[in-house]
Amino acid sequence: STAQIGVTGLAVMGRNLARNFARNGYAVAVHNRTPARTRALVEEFGGEGEFVACESAKEFVAALERPRRLVVMVKAGDPTDAVIQEFAPLLEPGDMIIDGGNAHFTDTRRRERELREQGIHFVGMGVSGGEEGALNGPSIMPGGPKESYDSLGPMLEKISAKAADGSPCVSHVGPDGAGHFVKMVHNGIEYADMQLIGEAYQLLRDVAGYSPAQIAEIFRTWNQGRLDSYLIEITAEVLSHVDAETGKPFVDVVVDQAEQKGTGRWTVQIALDLGVPVSGIAEAVFARSLSGHAALREASRGLAGPTARPLSESEAQAFADRVEQALYASKIVSYTQGFHEIDAARDEYGWDIDLGAVSALWRGGCIIRAAFLDRIRSAYDTRPDLPSLLSDATFAQEIGDAQDDWREVLIAATREGVPTPGFAAALAYYDALRAERLPAALTQGQRDYFGAHTYRRVDRDGSFHTLWGGDRSEVSA
Ligand code: 6PG
Repeated sequence: STAQIGVTGLAVMGRNLARNFARNGYAVAVHNRTPARTRALVEEFGGEGEFVACESAKEFVAALERPRRLVVMVKAGDPTDAVIQEFAPLLEPGDMIIDGGNAHFTDTRRRERELREQGIHFVGMGVSGGEEGALNGPSIMPGGPKESYDSLGPMLEKISAKAADGSPCVSHVGPDGAGHFVKMVHNGIEYADMQLIGEAYQLLRDVAGYSPAQIAEIFRTWNQGRLDSYLIEITAEVLSHVDAETGKPFVDVVVDQAEQKGTGRWTVQIALDLGVPVSGIAEAVFARSLSGHAALREASRGLAGPTARPLSESEAQAFADRVEQALYASKIVSYTQGFHEIDAARDEYGWDIDLGAVSALWRGGCIIRAAFLDRIRSAYDTRPDLPSLLSDATFAQEIGDAQDDWREVLIAATREGVPTPGFAAALAYYDALRAERLPAALTQGQRDYFGAHTYRRVDRDGSFHTLWGGDRSEVSA
C-alpha cells in the first residue's frame, strides 16, 4: 500500500481533484467504475505526479495506506450509497470515506451514523469552485468526526485555495452533515448573488438604457470596489462576449430560462423547516422557476405595463451609482440570511460551527468568493455571538448609507415595470427588522378571532383570549 489518498469516480470533478492531490506531491490511487476512465487519466496526466491506477475495488483499497482516505466523487444520491456499499465491507475501523459530492446533509447524517457503527469515519465534504477550482484550489467544507481532520486536514489545506492572506480555504466545519449543510447554504447565497446581479443588469439595461458592453464596463468598475468578487468579474466577461455567429451580444442569444440542480432549493426548504426567513434566497430560487415557465410567460405577454420614461445620460450615470448601492445593500441582506440559517442549524443539530471560520474559508476558491467575506469574518471574529450581520456596526453603517439609493432604485424599477424580487425582498427584510411594530399583532388578533389561538400582551405575561363572539371581555388562556 503506497497511496496516501484515493479518489473513486473520475468524472471531471473527481479527475481534477485527483490531479490536484498528485500535483501537490501525494501518491493518489485512482479508480472508476469503468476502468477506461482510470487508464485515460493516467495516460493523459500521469506526468503530473504519482498515480496508482486500480481496476477493482479490492485493488483500490489495498493500494491505500492506513488509515485509508477514500474520496468518493460520484453523482449525489443513490450512486453515493452504491459506492459506500461496495467499499465499506472492505474497510477497517479508523478508515475514512470522504464524500465530495453535493449531497443533501440529511443523507450525510444518515451515512455518517451507519458507518460509525462499523468504526468507519464518514466525512461529508462540500467542495466549491467548479472544475477549475477542483484542479487549482477549491474551497473545502469538510464535516464528519473531528479526529478525521487530524489526518485529512493537512492534505486538504495543501490542495485548497488560499485566501489573500495566505491561509488555506478549508477548516473542519462541524460534525456529521455540517460540511454539506454549509456547502448547501453557500449555494443558496450563490443563487441570491446571481439573481441580484441579474437584477442590476436588467435595471442598467431597461431603465438606464445601457448596452451589454457598457454594462460590462460598469461591472468592471464595481469590481474594483467593495463588490470585488468572482461573480461580478465573470458577469463582466459574459456581458462583453459577442456571439460569433450573429454578431449579437452573447446574452441576447441565450434562452432566458435558468436551470437549477437543487442545492438552492434545498437551502430554502430547510430554512422553512428551521423557521429562518431567507426571503432573498427564496426569491432567487423562485425567479429561476418563473423564468422556466415559458408557456405561462408567453400567455402573459399582453398584460399592461407602464409607459417607459427614458433617462438622460447624466440621469443614467447617477442611476448606475444608485444600483451599485442597492446591489451592495441587498448582498449584505442575503449573506445575513444565509448566516442566520447556519446559526439556526447549530442550535437544531448541536453543531459547533464557527461562523467566522466559515466566512474565512469562503474567501477564496469558491463561487461566492469576494473581498466582502473578509469583512464578514472580522465581524464574527470580533463578536462570535453576533445576533445578525446587520447588528455589526460597520455593516449597519453601510446599509444605512445605502438605503436612500436602494429605495430610489426600487421606485424606478416599480415605475418602469422591471421585476426586482431580490432587491425588493432584501429591502422588505431590512425594513421589517428595523420596524418598531409589525402587523403580526393584527395577525395574532385574527387568529384569536377565528380560532381562539390566543395571544400574548405587551404589558404582562401570560396567554390571553378575547371572547369575540360574546361580550368581548378578555380571559386568561
Ligand atoms: C460550486 C457550485 C457547484 C455547482 C452549482 C450549480 O460551488 O462550485 O455551486 O456546486 O456549479 O451547484 O448549481 P445549479 O446547477 O443549481 O445552478
